[in-house]
Amino acid sequence: GIDLGKLLAKTGMVTLDPGFVNTASCSSGITYIDGDAGILRYRGYPIEQLAESSTFVEVSYLLIYGELPTQAQLDDFTDKIRRHTLLHEDLKRFFDGFPRDAHPMPVLSSAVSALSTFYQDSLNPFDDPQVEMSTIRLLAKLPTIAAYAYKKSVGQPFLYPDNSLGLVENFLRMTFGFPAEPYKVDPILTKALDQLFILHADHEQNCSTSTVRLVGSSQANMFASISAGINALFGPLHGGANQAVLEMLEGIRDSGGDVDTFVRKVKNKEDGVKLMGFGHRVYKNYDPRAAIIKKTADEVLGKLGGDDQLLGIAKALEERALSDDYFVERKLYPNVDFYTGLIYRAMGFPTRMFTVLFALGRLPGWIAHWREMMKDPATKIGRPRQVYVGSPERDYVAINER
Ligand code: ACO
Repeated sequence: GIDLGKLLAKTGMVTLDPGFVNTASCSSGITYIDGDAGILRYRGYPIEQLAESSTFVEVSYLLIYGELPTQAQLDDFTDKIRRHTLLHEDLKRFFDGFPRDAHPMPVLSSAVSALSTFYQDSLNPFDDPQVEMSTIRLLAKLPTIAAYAYKKSVGQPFLYPDNSLGLVENFLRMTFGFPAEPYKVDPILTKALDQLFILHADHEQNCSTSTVRLVGSSQANMFASISAGINALFGPLHGGANQAVLEMLEGIRDSGGDVDTFVRKVKNKEDGVKLMGFGHRVYKNYDPRAAIIKKTADEVLGKLGGDDQLLGIAKALEERALSDDYFVERKLYPNVDFYTGLIYRAMGFPTRMFTVLFALGRLPGWIAHWREMMKDPATKIGRPRQVYVGSPERDYVAINER
């Protein structure tokens, strides 16, 4: 067909679209979203069905390879991941260099970036076995890296992975267990975290995935590209929102629990206050992931004994916002992160680990997009144009004449 971009560029025309509100950067066969109808599907399968019946490892396979695995394919995939969960002892030493109070997100991105120094045998983006190797290494090692980032922050010893456990169980054990003590993984916790990972696993061209694709478009290796994606996810308007939501709820609680005053502040845009966990670029309806998570929050907090006061404030905020013209007119609904923080907290994770959990969930999506892009003959290096608004030509002035 016609390459519209090329055609316009030839005529010297440039479209200005800050934030890419209406500009597609690629075509993709991975995830479908209908933001007006509140629909999300991975490879055609509705998110509700996957959250109900699938597992995170199976969904990872689906996103990356395009089809649900047979039992033999799933066993093989699971087994390969299991065999690569260890971190090189030299890589473990990286954690010593970070300050004790380091946020775990930059620790995570630094360690992922460092993987490209340890695995120089799997960096070629066009060699299928190498791409496969990097895929497995990342899926297997990110939970270990995330658990070590946590252990470092609390000053506890690292645990080696126990490969008799599944991916999520192993992560929970390495996070909350101690070397000398047997750790019993709570099945409620495992199932809830597995489901949260499924819900975060992909969301088409969001900020971090677009970053992975943009960096990868220069033919940078998978580790480098995904390390960049982790940094993009760190921002409070993206993955950092789950941490920001909990801090917002605590702030409301600490100032007396008055939801109305807070909502008034948001509406008046006082000090740029936003209702964190609300609004989405694409969803102009209830985020289907938030609907599932709200149910999980009730169940998990009921069983694990979460903070009822904060859940109460969250529900009151939601109710208040959904009946307020400001939010109705702007089509602002709860997004995936409005309730996740409460669940993560009930599970025992400190607030600073919330975005790391998002990264663990989003990893298969990043990998799937990176791989799809590398195989797409239409891929070119990402290089947006600009509209120049700076000074017209002028002559250099010597420093003593300025
Ligand atoms: N609270 C209050 N007002 C809001 C909010 C909010 N959370 N979100 C949007 N608005 C308002 C804007 O101020 C704007 O109002 P205006 O027309 O009077 O200026 C209007 O709604 C449209 O908002 P935009 O900022 O243009 O929407 P955009 O698509 O650029 O932003 C975003 C989407 C970044 C998610 C935004 O809604 C936001 O900041 N939400 C809070 C942070 C958050 O929860 N992020 C997580 C997103 S989901 C994820 O990454 C998992």
